[in-house]
This record gives sequence, C-alpha cells and structure tokens, in this order.
Amino acid sequence: MSKIIAITNQKGGVGKTTTTINLAAAFANKKLKVLVIDLDPQANATIGLGISRELIDATSFDLMTKDINASDVIYRNLDSKFEIIPSSVKLVDAYEILLNKKDNELILFNKIKDLKEVYDYILIDCPPTLGILVDNALFAADSVIIPVECEYYAYDALTQMVNKINQIQKNKNELSMSLTIEGVLLTKLDNRNLFGYKIIEEVKEMFPNKTFKTIINRSTHLQEAPMHGQTVLQYAFNSKGSKEYRELAKEIIFNNQE
Ligand SMILES: Nc1ncnc2c1ncn2[C@@H]1O[C@H](COP(=O)(O)OP(=O)(O)OP(=O)(O)O)[C@@H](O)[C@H]1O
Ligand SMILES: [Mg+2]
Repeated sequence: MSKIIAITNQKGGVGKTTTTINLAAAFANKKLKVLVIDLDPQANATIGLGISRELIDATSFDLMTKDINASDVIYRNLDSKFEIIPSSVKLVDAYEILLNKKDNELILFNKIKDLKEVYDYILIDCPPTLGILVDNALFAADSVIIPVECEYYAYDALTQMVNKINQIQKNKNELSMSLTIEGVLLTKLDNRNLFGYKIIEEVKEMFPNKTFKTIINRSTHLQEAPMHGQTVLQYAFNSKGSKEYRELAKEIIFNNQE
C-alpha cells in the first residue's frame, strides 16, 4: 500500500527532519521505494543528505510556484537509496506567490498524487510553522507523524497541531479526502532526565492508540550523521539511533498491514 506521510509539528527542533531522512533510509533499507519532499525553506533535509546547492537546478520552490511536474524536480543520485525533491531558501517567497492563487492549499496534492503509483512511501518534511506550506503538506498527505520532544514545552504545540489536523481533516472530508494521524513519535529522550518519562506517560494518555511504541532516544550519532551528509543508517548502521529508526519503519509497515 502506497502512502504519503507529512512529518509535522509547528514547534521547532523537535526532530522532524531527523525523522524524515532516517525513516526514509529505514524504509529504503527494507527495499521499499521512497521519496522525500523537503518543504522547509531551511532546507535541512536537503543539506543533511549532502546535496549541495550547485548540484540542484530545481527545488520544491519551483514545484510549488511554477507550471512544472514533480518528476522535473526529483533528485535521484543519492547514495542513500531514496529520492528527494530538495528545497532552498527561495521557498520563503512561496508564501506571497501562493497567497492569491485559487485552491492554493491543493497545489502539492495535485502535483504528487500520481507519484503514489511509483513510490511505497512519500515523506514530506514540514517547516516549523502552520502556514500555507504546511496546509499543502496536510492536503497532500494521507497521514501525519507528529514528533514530540520529551520536554516540558511539548504540550502547547501538540494541542495546536492536533487542532490544525482536525480542521484540515474536516475540509478534506468535504472533498472526500482523508487525513489520519499515523502516530505521535516521542523523540530526543534523555534517559538521565526523569521528566522525559513523565512526558511519555502523559502523551500516551492523550493518544493511547496513536503513540508509537518506538521511542527515539537522544543520540550523538543522529546529530553527527547530517554533518557528514549521511543518514544514520549510512553513518553508523549499528548505532542505537539507526536501530530505533529501523524499528519505527517496521512498526509503521506493521500498522499498515492490519
Ligand atoms: N534523537 C536525537 N538525539 C540527539 N539530537 C537530535 C535527535 N533528534 C534531533 N536531534 C538534533 O536536534 C536538532 C533539531 O532536530 P531536527 O532538525 O530534526 O528538528 P526539526 O523539528 O526538523 O527542526 P525545525 O523545526 O528547525 O525544522 C538537530 O540539531 C538534530 O541533530
Ligand atoms: Mg526541520
């Protein structure tokens, strides 16, 4: 079954990009065909995969604002065994350009819907905002993964995010489209900090059936891998971080078989 998943949380630094690239690598490691769409003007996924600016002609900015197809902006020559639509800082300008376009929240949906025949999983890395780019990601996606950092300020953002998802879900239902929560992913757990375990308990209480069993611990390998332009599977295949993201891939594949 083919699926488009948006990785989203308007709170910054919670592990969206880390999850996108390493989950993509973990799916690819299972011989699945994967596309990552970098929809963040910060372009952290693009840079973290070692794609330098000189190598790219077109990005998600061009896809969102010009009359071109997704296949024109897919970058294929990665060692990491999956494909990517890269981003660039130009994507900041997309907000203004898209503002007055008709059905501007459906642009990405229309551009990538046919790609479901090509890929098993399409993962969209979202910016830490709730604007038009995230609306586009949520309209294009079948489901969302919400990474939540195991720390105190996690709640407000999580509540706002869920309200946003509910609102888009309603709009999509009217168009006979759907949006589900794939799961809430607890990230950056520091096992020396007891407070993190309290967050885990409370998130599980809030989302009893939607919190992933897999928890991503703090790991220096996960931090270092993008500095080498690699996923953690390439950088340190047997590390804890690599194992946890491979475990997450298994959990998602299993959940989608049921
Ligand atoms: N499990 C982890 N252990 C240690 N460091 C992590 C972990 N996950 C993410 N990080 C680090 O935390 C920082 C933020 O992570 P990341 O870029 O994935 O978050 P983000 O939600 O995409 O941020 P933004 O909102 O800015 O896009 C990065 O420096 C990343 O290397
Ligand atoms: Mg990011």
